[in-house]
Amino acid sequence: MATASVLHPRPSSDSLRSLRSTTMNKSFLHSRLQKALPTKDKDIWANTQGSKPKALPARFADLKKTLVKAENYDAVQASWDRLLLALDKRALDLEKFGPGAVPIVNFTDIDETTRKFPPEIASKIREAGCCVVRNVVSREQALEWKSSLLSYVDRHPDIRRIPSLSEPQIYSTFWQKAQIEARTHPSVILAQVAMSQMYTASDETQVDLVEQAMYADRWRVRKPGSFGMFPTHLDNGSIERWEDEEYSQVFRKIWEGKWEEYDAWDMDHRAEAIVDMYGGPGSCSVFRSLQGWLSIDDNGPQCGTIQLLPDIKLSTAYVLLRPFFNDENTLDMDSTYFYGADPGQGQVVKEIWHPHLHLQNTVVSCPPAAPGDYVFWHCDMVHKVEEEHRGTNDSSVMYIPVVPLCGYNVANLVEQRKSFLAGVPPPDMPPENESEGVEKDHEDRGRPEDILSPQGRKLVGMDAFDENEAGTTAGQREIRQIANEALGF
Ligand SMILES: [Fe+2]
Repeated sequence: MATASVLHPRPSSDSLRSLRSTTMNKSFLHSRLQKALPTKDKDIWANTQGSKPKALPARFADLKKTLVKAENYDAVQASWDRLLLALDKRALDLEKFGPGAVPIVNFTDIDETTRKFPPEIASKIREAGCCVVRNVVSREQALEWKSSLLSYVDRHPDIRRIPSLSEPQIYSTFWQKAQIEARTHPSVILAQVAMSQMYTASDETQVDLVEQAMYADRWRVRKPGSFGMFPTHLDNGSIERWEDEEYSQVFRKIWEGKWEEYDAWDMDHRAEAIVDMYGGPGSCSVFRSLQGWLSIDDNGPQCGTIQLLPDIKLSTAYVLLRPFFNDENTLDMDSTYFYGADPGQGQVVKEIWHPHLHLQNTVVSCPPAAPGDYVFWHCDMVHKVEEEHRGTNDSSVMYIPVVPLCGYNVANLVEQRKSFLAGVPPPDMPPENESEGVEKDHEDRGRPEDILSPQGRKLVGMDAFDENEAGTTAGQREIRQIANEALGF
């Protein structure tokens, strides 16, 4: 879940498209987006009231016709019929497996030379779209970070608590020493690189699956008995999956009626996709190829943890094709129902709108994740947070996503470094009001000297990326050069 609260408007779709021709333009464009003026507040999530979603404007019927071409209508109908059968079968499996459907792998499985998981482990992760990586840092280290985070907010009672001061679950600090240490810990970064390399990219694509950009997010300590804050949803944009021309190309096999051939881990069109065309409080201004949290407590099923739909291909094909079918499962190219993908709001999934996902059976709780374990999920994964916390232990995590270096994320890195050095919230998460505590006023906040590794210094934008590293692709070298230039190296 993005804890981001974005209050920036975006330029029109046409102006976004006209600026897409080069990565440098993309980087420039994103700087413009982040400097835009605040707009009116809106709901974070698409409205889930009613048996039908709200109809979008008529132009979205035209959009459907540009994605699914007339010559593919029969193939797409047949693919939908196959998909529903596959989902019925998969739902039975997932109901049986429960949390066991989420792969659990060991940090020590990562090959230190290639910084990849072995093929048999990687294929399990790719199929599910999520995993728990055990023992990325020690239990003692993770618990020490939790203790440090809590003592900081105890010292600074003006720090914003979400949803409320009396019943906090999420804390608005970004630059605590523990956060800087966790983000730049060499083992945390190695786990991220191994997950980033689940994706593949063509040599020419300007993306780096090894180097990353920081995205400072918040942290959570959820008390027993509290209620979950997040509905069933997808991160990484909503209507953009259909409306942004580049993003829609990710799903081209699905539009052609060949969802079985869809590769959720192909980075080529993702690296340049616009995931926040409209801004809005449900948007996140960076491309996170995987979301993740580092466990800093004994998290587990029934105890307020995350829930995931661990079949990335089937769930993505269904969510993407849903607007093209009516309730009788017949191709419908004229309606403008997008079922929870409203412009500018977080994309929601709902039982009555997505009946064939069998959400009650397929969305399973993440297996136990001890302090030091790291949970990752694909950027298109259907997920939520357990509504109830029936345990006796805090459910505590630090949100730390995988943010590959690409044109879309370069301007973000420049802004993140600026925010870090100034001790102010990153652009996505401005203070709610003037009385909210900001870390720049706290002498005990994190500093560059708290960065724990050379890789971490690059991730934070403090050191240049190596443009001449052996074994890198042309696309990697180009994006490193662009990043170095933007960072002033
Ligand atoms: Fe999410």
